[in-house]
Amino acid sequence: MPRLLVINSSGRSSRSITRRLTAQFAESWLAANSGGELVERDVTLQLPTPVNEAWIASAFAAPETRSAEMLKALAESEVLLAEVEAADALVIGVPMYNFGLPAQLKAYFDQIIRVNRSFSFNPEAIEPYQPLLTDKPITVIVSVGDGDLLPGGPMSELNFLEPHLVTMLGFIGLHNVEFVRVGYEEYQDGRLKRALEAAEQEVAKRAMIEQ
Ligand SMILES: Cc1cc2nc3c(=O)[nH]c(=O)nc-3n(C[C@H](O)[C@H](O)[C@H](O)COP(=O)(O)O)c2cc1C
Repeated sequence: MPRLLVINSSGRSSRSITRRLTAQFAESWLAANSGGELVERDVTLQLPTPVNEAWIASAFAAPETRSAEMLKALAESEVLLAEVEAADALVIGVPMYNFGLPAQLKAYFDQIIRVNRSFSFNPEAIEPYQPLLTDKPITVIVSVGDGDLLPGGPMSELNFLEPHLVTMLGFIGLHNVEFVRVGYEEYQDGRLKRALEAAEQEVAKRAMIEQ
């Protein structure tokens, strides 16, 4: 049974553009994948624990030396990674906050980017870092207040969100990433309306091919 992992990270529950579009994506995906299953991960409603001393000590310990307490420190990371591994496709809703991604989504990536679990590190190898996850289609839905920050726009060099996200996903083996972008949320004029209509069409198209 195909499975779609839907990740939301907007701080808004109502009025959120990214939540609206991930919901539309999920609906179209379900229509295209009969018997398909949705798994929802909301990193705002259920904030991933920021990594701490216990997590780091456990993550870097050899697996066979981990105590029960150390395994407990990685339990959340295991749950989040298992969700990604079990999914056939992902859709991630990401608002731009202060030129980057929301802190709650960064906390999520800090939990799933883990040495010897989602990437390996061998300082003696020509390529010291190797990704360990199997690639799958990922649609990232981004909304920004000012569309000039989007790729090709006059302020695109201030968009730290997209390169950061692409780097983190690629680092663990997830390279098949497509963006759907909505600009001008803060401009209540025709530009937002046009951007939303275009994004809705792209979402419908992308959800149909992502099977
Ligand atoms: C805390 C915060 C920081 C923001 N920072 C930026 C920013 O740096 N650049 C920008 O264009 N828009 C910024 N915005 C606007 C959001 O990106 C925009 O409202 C987007 O639509 C939010 O996604 P959502 O509609 O899914 O909640 C910010 C909004 C908030 C709440």
